[in-house]
Amino acid sequence: MAIAANVSCHQEGDPVAVGILIFFLVLGGGIGLFTLKVRRDMRREDEEWARKQRELEARAKAIEEEARELEADDLRGRMLEVQSLMLPAWFDTFDNGLRDVANRIKARPDDLDLFVEGITVYHLVIEGVLATTGQRMILKYTEDHGLYPGFQKGFSLVEQDEHRHIAFGVRFLRDAIADDPRRGDTVQRTVAELVPKAAHVFCPPYADDPREFVSYGYHSSHIYGYAYRKLKRRMKVLGLEAPPPEELMPGPIASPEEARAAGMPV
Ligand SMILES: [Fe+2]
Repeated sequence: MAIAANVSCHQEGDPVAVGILIFFLVLGGGIGLFTLKVRRDMRREDEEWARKQRELEARAKAIEEEARELEADDLRGRMLEVQSLMLPAWFDTFDNGLRDVANRIKARPDDLDLFVEGITVYHLVIEGVLATTGQRMILKYTEDHGLYPGFQKGFSLVEQDEHRHIAFGVRFLRDAIADDPRRGDTVQRTVAELVPKAAHVFCPPYADDPREFVSYGYHSSHIYGYAYRKLKRRMKVLGLEAPPPEELMPGPIASPEEARAAGMPV
């Protein structure tokens, strides 16, 4: 309507109306150009997305192919080969710890107290003490040495995910303990039994003494300190006191100040 009115004024030679008309023409043209640009960008994005999708599919196919070849090449045999290199702490943690509690849960799936023990083994100890510490140290090493940027990016996402898994475990345990405070004893007992064995996983095969060693250039006290503090913080969220570090870790732990001074994760 406004444009139509302006057109008639323009015919009468009104300079203001001419100005407004030009403004609308320019605006219309601008919107038209903008729409064309957005459409072109969207088309480009679609093409880019389709290209990436094709790449991902090709990569997935290649991995599938590789897995099939590995299977044909006796995957089980290779796993057993790796297993022969594993230290006793791995068996203590995963066979005697995790597999044992998983089998007991399978036999008594409705036993919530047993489930509390299982969640403690998996989320609080295996993920919370071992996985997150290992992930942080591996990432720190690659960052410190400027190695594998692609791996760094991907593995950082794995690390982020790990924190979500642990958050689920801690939330579950907090609710379970709120329902029945005696479950706090189960958590404490499981931690006290499993962590001293599991923490030996940090000790590399070439170390003479699990009390003190250097792994990937990092002193054991920093590795043990990081692992211990993570556990202590999460137990605090559950309203539980963590056993002292000398009862859980195979060697002394560095203080947060020492870790900070050494540029190590706290
Ligand atoms: Fe996880």
